[in-house]
Amino acid sequence: MSRIFNFSAGPAVLPEEVLKEAAAEMLDYKGSGMSVMEMSHRSKVYETIITEAEADLRDLLSIPDNYKVLFLQGGASTQFAAVPMNLMKNKVADHIVTGQWAKKAYQEAQIYGVANKIASSEDKTFSYIPDCSDLPISEDADYVYICENNTIYGTKFKTLPNTKGKDLVADVSSCFLSEPVDIAKYGLLFAGAQKNVGPAGVVIAIIREDLITEDTFPGTPTMLKYKIHADAKSLYNTPPAYGIYICGKVFKWLKDLGGLSVMKEKNEEKAALLYDFLDQSKLFSGTVRKEDRSLMNVPFVTGNDELDALFVKEAKAVGLENLKGHRSVGGMRASIYNAMPKAGVEALVAFMKDFEEKHSA
Ligand SMILES: Cc1ncc(COP(=O)(O)O)c(C=O)c1O
Repeated sequence: MSRIFNFSAGPAVLPEEVLKEAAAEMLDYKGSGMSVMEMSHRSKVYETIITEAEADLRDLLSIPDNYKVLFLQGGASTQFAAVPMNLMKNKVADHIVTGQWAKKAYQEAQIYGVANKIASSEDKTFSYIPDCSDLPISEDADYVYICENNTIYGTKFKTLPNTKGKDLVADVSSCFLSEPVDIAKYGLLFAGAQKNVGPAGVVIAIIREDLITEDTFPGTPTMLKYKIHADAKSLYNTPPAYGIYICGKVFKWLKDLGGLSVMKEKNEEKAALLYDFLDQSKLFSGTVRKEDRSLMNVPFVTGNDELDALFVKEAKAVGLENLKGHRSVGGMRASIYNAMPKAGVEALVAFMKDFEEKHSA
């Protein structure tokens, strides 16, 4: 068996311990004689899996009792519609547009009501987070929407926006569980699992209870109603059962490591290795304003497209894979999620040093 260092933005690297455990349990989960993939989601065995997954997640994030945890499907993109369909009571939402995913959510919200773009960083290719301390929040806004970590551009809100009392809705897909957060600051947060948590398809939404009502946009499909899933404890229909099982294992892995404060320290240490190198490099440079840098996604360039392409190709040849930047920005991007070992970042930096020596004039 040989595993590479996988710097993909998602689906992304998962903890090796989790994959090994899942492999060992593949044919016979805890004496049940079957795989979790083959199991009824209504069985006692599965009930324990999903109940423990929720309990461990609540523990990790200290989720207050007045928040529901929902395991949903359809990827994070489905939430771009579910959020306005469920939460736009006045049919007004204020959006901060800091990247492609934020833009897609903003465009989707326009189908269901008035979506106001109250701030944007598009003027500089989304390379920074705008000042959100005193934005023109609409009086009748149902919520303020952000994408907290911008996977493609590598920026992160270090301070949440001042929403002037409005509920904050955040897409946290690419920073979920990378550090502790205060859930009470959000009305709703959601994350597609395939970056920091598990297999694609699963979406985790954490929603304050009073936001879960029967008053949804006319015609909202049953499957997109938060109340349906909350009342059924995420078992209204067949959930992405195997995916949730893997997420549960990742939650236990995080707890065993010492929880999210420890994870944050590890992530800061890994990111510093890469950013410190970039800051002194004569060949490579980071593309993001320093104070807005993400701990999870690190875009960088040489300034020469051909050299960038050669870097990606040669890195792949030595087992450093998926370093090509998003097709909309080019260059390189190293996604260094929770499960990326420090050794992976060290290997990347060592390779960058060699490459720089070879290619500096
Ligand atoms: C921040 C963010 N939001 C949403 C998405 C879309 O997720 P999905 O493909 O699960 O719909 C992605 C990436 O894939 C993302 O990085």
